[in-house]
Amino acid sequence: MPERGGVGTAPRPVDPRALRSCMGQFATGVTVITCRRGDLVHGTTVNAFTSVSLDPPLALVALDRRSRADALLREDGDYVVNILDASQRDLAMHFAGRPMAEPVPWVDEQSPRPRLAGTVAHLVCRPWQLHDGGDHTLHIGSIERFESRPGRPLLFHGGAFPELVPDDSPGAWSLCLDGMDPVAHLPVHDEPNRADRTGD
Ligand SMILES: Cc1cc2nc3c(=O)[nH]c(=O)nc-3n(C[C@H](O)[C@H](O)[C@H](O)COP(=O)(O)O)c2cc1C
Repeated sequence: MPERGGVGTAPRPVDPRALRSCMGQFATGVTVITCRRGDLVHGTTVNAFTSVSLDPPLALVALDRRSRADALLREDGDYVVNILDASQRDLAMHFAGRPMAEPVPWVDEQSPRPRLAGTVAHLVCRPWQLHDGGDHTLHIGSIERFESRPGRPLLFHGGAFPELVPDDSPGAWSLCLDGMDPVAHLPVHDEPNRADRTGD
């Protein structure tokens, strides 16, 4: 797949640790990107994951060019973004290079799209575009399937995994004026009352 972009001025020298510390103020969830390529089943812990587009449905992961995951996702084939549950710290560290004692809870390990059990959500993605991201590659995937369940996700902030504090205040989407009503963006077959909403 050809990469797009990549033209620009040389970056100013920065202190990588200071930049990482600054970026660490941006709280994220934690995902494990899993895939099968031939006989190899692989997973990598990634917090540089974001939603990109609802129509078409697209998501982005940024992978270090030195990682095996980057090489594997450049090959043809789907991959799965597993969004970890708060109880899955050990799994996050396992796929970051610190093996855990318990067996990895694979689902469909033999399938072309192996995923992890116990997650709060997963998305099956098909490689769509690659972009130059400096020492990372930006992998944009087309979301083929997704599933989520209620639950507390694992958080990553300041280099640690803090607890999520429950919040009863009104949902942000209901207060947001950009028209991003998530219900209105559900696929038609998931939204029985869509016809009633089109005049909104
Ligand atoms: C919480 C956390 C978040 C991480 N996020 C990323 C990321 O977004 N992109 C990335 O390339 N590596 C990330 N890493 C590092 C990789 O998980 C780690 O380098 C891994 O060993 C790469 O494995 P691989 O070379 O087998 O693919 C993260 C690690 C941790 C612990």
